[in-house]
Amino acid sequence: ICSKSKKTNSMCANDLIHSRIREECEVLKMTDKQIKEIMCRLHNDLKKGLSRADHDKATVKCWITYIQDLPNGKERGKFLALDLGGTNFRVLIINLGENHFDMQSKIYAIPKHIMTGTGIALFDHIAECLANFMKEHGVYEERLALGFTFSFPLKQLGLTKGVLQRWTKGFSCSGVVGEDVVQGLKDAIARRGDVFIDVMGILNDATGALMSCAHKNRNCRISVIIGTGSNACYVEKTANCELFDGEPDKEELLINTEWGAFGDDGSLDFVRTEFDREVDVTSINPGKQIQEKMISGMYLGELVRLALVKFTRMGLLFGGQGSDLLFEGGSFYTKYVSEIESDKPGDFTSCMEVLEELGLSHASDADMAAVRYVCECVSRRAAHLVSAGIATLLNKMNEPRVTVGIDGSVYRFHPHFHTLMCEKIAQLVRPGLQFDLMLSEDGSGRGAALVAAVACREAEQGS
Ligand code: GLC
Repeated sequence: ICSKSKKTNSMCANDLIHSRIREECEVLKMTDKQIKEIMCRLHNDLKKGLSRADHDKATVKCWITYIQDLPNGKERGKFLALDLGGTNFRVLIINLGENHFDMQSKIYAIPKHIMTGTGIALFDHIAECLANFMKEHGVYEERLALGFTFSFPLKQLGLTKGVLQRWTKGFSCSGVVGEDVVQGLKDAIARRGDVFIDVMGILNDATGALMSCAHKNRNCRISVIIGTGSNACYVEKTANCELFDGEPDKEELLINTEWGAFGDDGSLDFVRTEFDREVDVTSINPGKQIQEKMISGMYLGELVRLALVKFTRMGLLFGGQGSDLLFEGGSFYTKYVSEIESDKPGDFTSCMEVLEELGLSHASDADMAAVRYVCECVSRRAAHLVSAGIATLLNKMNEPRVTVGIDGSVYRFHPHFHTLMCEKIAQLVRPGLQFDLMLSEDGSGRGAALVAAVACREAEQGS
């Protein structure tokens, strides 16, 4: 059949190549049965994290946040916030008024040598940015309350005491793991001696997203981050939090699941691929944050790149001719995945731009279709894994209608993530349970201010 013309010949060859790539990508697909198994394992891990007997062995730690009061909308005042743990470090000043919410912020770089240097240097840098920001915003002389969004696994011993358990997302500052991070910040501020700050609370970005969404929507009881890293926070019954030693009379408590570590004990190995293993071994934290490495912005682009490299070496892509950049780790940014999938079907404008940037301008239409297909497989799998996690929480909570606040660059910028998640969660959730997915608007900043505000409110009531 293929002997009619050269053109038909090459079409046949293309079809063959495309079906070989599809076959190779099968490993990136999870069946419903596998997803159900993942949900079952995650549910068990969440229970272990909450339990006194199993917590030490648990991979999903379910840290207690010491936040028991969601905002009631009556919070007022001027607050500072710090946000460390995503792509950027930010300082914010937030005014909570009766009918307005006014926020100014500035992004500061955290140079690589600080991310991987000493803890002292990190905190000194943060304190310096804070002081500069206060000068620029005319509040250098004021004594202000501050909320600290610190998006790493923290064992909280109170609202203003949190011990770092491990670094994630490319940070590795020495002398901080096992230490109280709030104290680290306070010491750095004291070393400067020029600004006066009351640190009112430390929180995770997932907790911040929940506070900030709950401020607008009282049904919001779960939050999820799908950004540089991935995590979820939810409202749990205090009675189920066996490690909690705060006020037992309050019925509920926010739990920072740290679900990014799900799989660290091998429980996701049955769906992991050679690409996942490669991403893991070349990372700064091998063996750790296994689920996060299948989902989040720090890794999705690299997963795609590794698949493209394999297919190029097999002669299935780019006529077997890669480029120096394609073969260089970290060169395929996760934002490329969003851009490529934003092209309309059959249109490869963004795809072509990305491939040109990578020195692959010799790519044919068939190559571009294949690159897009690989992106789709990797992002679909990520969306399905997050959906499995959210459905597990929804089923566990078993409340008739729950809003899930979601933040992070992957969710925000990927063109289909939201739709993929809505479809998948609807399939996985127990019949009768309803859910909404809501974009969280700057949870890290607002959330920190709200935690500080609620803490001030409580402190005033207490005095
Ligand atoms: C990582 C951190 C976690 C954070 C998440 C999203 O998983 O360990 O604390 O919430 O990234 O930023």
